[in-house]
Amino acid sequence: MTPPDAAEVGKRAAAEAATALIESGMVIGLGTGSTVAFVLDLLARRIHKEGLTVAGVPTSLYTEERARALGIPLTDLDPVRALDLAIDGADEIETRTFSIIKGLGGALLREKIVAFSAQRFVVVADESKLVPQLGVRVPVPVEIVRFAHAATARRIEQLGGRAVLRLKAGGEPFVTDNGNFIYDVYALGPIADPARLERDIAAIPGVVESGLFTLGVASVFVGYASGTARMLRAPA
Ligand code: A5P
Repeated sequence: MTPPDAAEVGKRAAAEAATALIESGMVIGLGTGSTVAFVLDLLARRIHKEGLTVAGVPTSLYTEERARALGIPLTDLDPVRALDLAIDGADEIETRTFSIIKGLGGALLREKIVAFSAQRFVVVADESKLVPQLGVRVPVPVEIVRFAHAATARRIEQLGGRAVLRLKAGGEPFVTDNGNFIYDVYALGPIADPARLERDIAAIPGVVESGLFTLGVASVFVGYASGTARMLRAPA
């Protein structure tokens, strides 16, 4: 059997540490991605072994399907006043500010809505996601309505970078759970002021949401190749 690679070990360690925060009675935002997949497995195990009673709000159809298959009870965000906790992955985490880039998995809109509704938003990641400044390793994904999408992408490029329509393996555009397109904006980094760029992108008509999250991550659980994890607190 091939041993798991360093990133997988780190992702699992981070997921384990974050899942330990979950207590009976909580309503939890369930993120999307390969790191959160470990959270779902571990949460399901706690539900079945410890009789933990929780309800999850999924951030994508993929997470919804996987959570259902694992027997995690689900609910909608609408009737809930605030989520006790939301746990999600990230593509880049700026260590100085805890601003993050999300959305390489395409679920950024629901992820942002859910994160924004949580009393405590925590991020789980292996150490490769930590960066001194955002936008160096990954593009900034932007969800855009289909109408005049190329024109909207050109407006985004006026802020800098190169916007590329995300395609599926077959060559047709990737469509989000909300029926929109995604443009990945390359060469925007290093991003000096992520909050300002988030606002500037959001102000363009046709943009639904960007993968820049500057909303206040409470803590980051970083997992290492050694199988250990560390909690980093939000900078003061
Ligand atoms: C999904 O849209 C993304 O925001 C993911 O949360 C992010 O890409 C992290 O995914 P991994 O845990 O798979 O790296």
